[in-house]
Amino acid sequence: MSITETSRRHVVLGAAALGFAIPACAQPQVRRDLYNGELDYLAKEYAGRAEALPASLQLSPANEPGERMSISGRCFSWQTGKPAAGVIIYAYHTDNSGSYHGGPAGTRHARLRGWMRTGEDGAYAFTSIKPAPYPDRSMPAHIHLTVLEPGLPPYWIDDIVFEGEFRVDPSYRAAQGNRGGDGIIRLKRSNGLWTGTRDIRLERHPT
Ligand SMILES: [Fe+2]
Repeated sequence: MSITETSRRHVVLGAAALGFAIPACAQPQVRRDLYNGELDYLAKEYAGRAEALPASLQLSPANEPGERMSISGRCFSWQTGKPAAGVIIYAYHTDNSGSYHGGPAGTRHARLRGWMRTGEDGAYAFTSIKPAPYPDRSMPAHIHLTVLEPGLPPYWIDDIVFEGEFRVDPSYRAAQGNRGGDGIIRLKRSNGLWTGTRDIRLERHPT
């Protein structure tokens, strides 16, 4: 155990003895499987234009069949809990028939996909159509999210899925790793638009 680790342990134990609450998120575990080489190619997609990426995106065409949906959230540092700026978020999902058909050649990614970059307030947002479960009904309707922090390898986080909907049940919840925080969100509908919030707690990186 290093001096730093020893000091931190003493602080934690001392605070606990005095009855101070230690935030559960203060010292998250390092996930040894945080990086996935499959995702490395993603960084190449925005190379040279990262600063041009919008914080808010219209992800699907305006005439895309399906119910309108708007997702927003903020990225937070695992260390400080403060909003994290300059974080690139890649999102993709199925269409309203549960298909990824029409995605980029040579990838397994979807036609409905897009890139955002958080502003100083850590916020991101996208509008799209509400995805449907795969035709084989093997899992809930979901939205894949990948996070790319400045200068660090990309990593995927828990999918966005919709509380109370098909196959979002206790077994699904129990199987989630809470990568990037909880991906199970509750949608609300108003004036024909589904809205939901998916905040992202950035992961602690392996050193
Ligand atoms: Fe998927």
